[in-house]
Amino acid sequence: MYYPEELVEEVRLKNDIVDVISTYVKLQKKGSSYFGLCPFHNEKSPSFSVSRQKQMYYCFGCGAGGNVFTFLMEYENYSFTEALKVLADRVGVELPKTEYSREAKEKAELKTVLLEINKLAAKYFYAQLKSEKGRAAYTYLHERKLSDETITAFGLGYSNKYSDDLYRYLKSKGYSDDMLLKAGLISADEKHGAFDKFWNRVMFPIMDANNRVIGFGGRVMGEGKPKYLNSPETPVFDKSRNLYGLHRARTSRKPYFLICEGYMDVIALHQAGFTNAAASLGTALTAGHAALIKRYVKEVYLTYDSDDAGTRAALRAVPILKGAGITAKVIRMDPYKDPDEFIKNLGAEAFEERIQKARNGFLFSLEMLERDYDMASPEGKTAFMREAAARLAEFDEEIERSNYIEAVARTYRVSAEELRKLVVRTAVQAGLAKPVERPKPTAGRDKGKEEGILKSQRILLTWLIEDDRLFGQIENLIRPEDFTEPLYHTVAELLYQQREKGTVNPAQIMNHFTDEDEHRRVAELFHTKLPKLSTVHEKEKALKETIIRIKQYRLDEASKSLDPTDIKGLQNLMADKRALQRMKELHISIN
Ligand code: CTP
Ligand code: MN
Repeated sequence: MYYPEELVEEVRLKNDIVDVISTYVKLQKKGSSYFGLCPFHNEKSPSFSVSRQKQMYYCFGCGAGGNVFTFLMEYENYSFTEALKVLADRVGVELPKTEYSREAKEKAELKTVLLEINKLAAKYFYAQLKSEKGRAAYTYLHERKLSDETITAFGLGYSNKYSDDLYRYLKSKGYSDDMLLKAGLISADEKHGAFDKFWNRVMFPIMDANNRVIGFGGRVMGEGKPKYLNSPETPVFDKSRNLYGLHRARTSRKPYFLICEGYMDVIALHQAGFTNAAASLGTALTAGHAALIKRYVKEVYLTYDSDDAGTRAALRAVPILKGAGITAKVIRMDPYKDPDEFIKNLGAEAFEERIQKARNGFLFSLEMLERDYDMASPEGKTAFMREAAARLAEFDEEIERSNYIEAVARTYRVSAEELRKLVVRTAVQAGLAKPVERPKPTAGRDKGKEEGILKSQRILLTWLIEDDRLFGQIENLIRPEDFTEPLYHTVAELLYQQREKGTVNPAQIMNHFTDEDEHRRVAELFHTKLPKLSTVHEKEKALKETIIRIKQYRLDEASKSLDPTDIKGLQNLMADKRALQRMKELHISIN
């Protein structure tokens, strides 16, 4: 749904950022800003700043930043629309009702009801566990070394021995058979009528990232088949897009997730302090899971079972994660079966050591590949290296491929040069690559220069919003198109427009972007560390240098891409160059 810009801005203006963030983070006033411990990364001294004047926040430690909408998007994992709704509600602004189709409305209502039913069922199971009838289940969990605190944190429960008590309970709350069937909590046949799906099992409620119960897993106590019984997929339960434990892992503030196979593994890991653990729900890891993970972290440690099935699952997960831009490492659990048993026997410290020793996913896959070859014979090893080369050839990025070639050469004691040649030959044969092009010798230097220019562009943008008198000095010299990076260009254009209309308002500029990543980058633009300058003269000098650098770069770029037959373009460029020359002689005064 698209909301008019004025409305979005009204909601933003009425929600003072310091007030909103204060309800989540303890803030202290320091100078013109407020500071606190960053909720988005782990830190001991506050580098998270909130500015009432700019109506923005920014963390000098991890680079998180944005306006009041961004904060809720990042903190609560809301979409832009969700954040808008919550903030509108907070200040009593009424948003126009969305005109849904009847079908869409019914679907949304169905989901709401199913979530309600699940929540009631979870509470019911929990109460059963705590009651006299649940004693055996409670003992079972205690014997598996789960503390009361853990049981409560994960909302574990018990489905007791009666085969229809949950059914009767939910019916008493007024839900129809049809709804209960759709929730996957009951089954029905002609002979028995309706009966509970879960029966005499320890219950694991499955939560989505926003803490809503979307399904259940139930384990038999002791031996018995099936060991686990799970809710079927329902309109609210999509196994390929949810991970068990994600609702807790996502706030763990660690830069990586531990992905394991089972419910008990996740719980045991959290109890041992590894609060960044999650598991796919009895299914293989999918691209949907990877996309979900990517919203929170860029690195995953796979801690799958140490048996063959677990190893194979890890091998399949590595390329799926890589496809989503996530680096994968593999942790071995031997001599134990899974993380739960490992921790029970060796403890958290030993597990931490395994994390430190995690194998890179690609090298791990080669290690497993060794099993298919006779590595002791020259033919066997050669055949193995050919296969390794074929896999290396699949790295798109040259630097990454090169790093891996070196790592593989070291591991298998072959010459990196020979291996590189083999990789190139394999790639060419497979049609994966053109014969190698020599890297241009200036490529590295250009990149550094570009980074430097972008930094100058950021500095100038920060300067402009910190002190809008500067506009008067520079608006004839630097125009939005001088900001060469597309995002900076857009921001500069909006800033110049605001200036023309009267006041500069950086937090409003953010309303133009709906993507978290863009918010982060725009916030960075407005919080660039400015050079420490004490005198006005120094500041004027730095400003002038920054402007000239930005202009010069733009003109250089323009002349590079200029079509030599474009006379008009050439004339403009010459005029710009003369202007730049004059600029160099100009005195810029900021008082
Ligand atoms: N699983 C399942 N249905 C089964 C067996 C397993 O859905 N019949 C899923 C569950 O999510 C389980 C995971 O696969 O947690 C891993 O299975 P397994 O390794 O057999 O069980 P553990 O997690 O080790 O469970 P426990 O420690 O309770 O034996
Ligand atoms: Mn287990």
